[in-house]
Amino acid sequence: QLDDLRGLRQGRLKLAIVSTAQYFMPRLLGEFCTANPGVEVALTVTNRQTVLARLTGNEDDLCVLGTPPEGLDVVATAIADNPLAILARHDHPLLQADEISPQRIAEEPFILREPGSGTRLAAERFFAARGLRLKMRMELGSNEAIKQAVIGGLGLAILSRDTLALEGRFGLLKPLNVKGFPLLRQWQVAYPRGKHLSVVAEAFLEHLVTHARAAALAGPLPPGADSMAPLALP
Ligand code: PGA
Repeated sequence: QLDDLRGLRQGRLKLAIVSTAQYFMPRLLGEFCTANPGVEVALTVTNRQTVLARLTGNEDDLCVLGTPPEGLDVVATAIADNPLAILARHDHPLLQADEISPQRIAEEPFILREPGSGTRLAAERFFAARGLRLKMRMELGSNEAIKQAVIGGLGLAILSRDTLALEGRFGLLKPLNVKGFPLLRQWQVAYPRGKHLSVVAEAFLEHLVTHARAAALAGPLPPGADSMAPLALP
């Protein structure tokens, strides 16, 4: 109790997050663990389908997802914006175009995440609602691999803005100006309704609610770094 007051909370914190949250969650955890050195963290990074299964099985203290969980009896709190963008290599001709229609975009080859990915689900829903289907050139189970495939010239990709922190900064990948994009979504932290949260989990939830917005905007850069400053390539 006295330790709690001093900010020296003890205990384990078990988290499951979707892959795109890995660009800002470790920094938030770093701040939290510096303030609470007695806390031991286990972090699972996986896709939406697996996070939902873990949430259903009450396997973690807290889960972080890219959009609210559907059809589950959970408490979910929005903690930051999570826009999805259509990304192209820096020299793609469509970067010159304004207000590109979803019909035109659906003619382009895409590199998509695996089924079970929240990013893939959101992308497919957007185009299906317009009677369109994306042309899949390649399926890849990793956001990092997808960015390299776009840089390699294999096609376009739809990814969370948060995945862009470094490649966007170097100017290697750029968002296309497509009608309906960025697709606005919100990061959610969730746990099963009725679950008794530990003191550590409560404290981390509060930390997320207070700091996630700024951390998601800054990406994985250290505090104080200017995320907008262009970096010269070596
Ligand atoms: P994913 O989730 O890693 O399953 O694609 C990310 C998201 O929904 O934003």
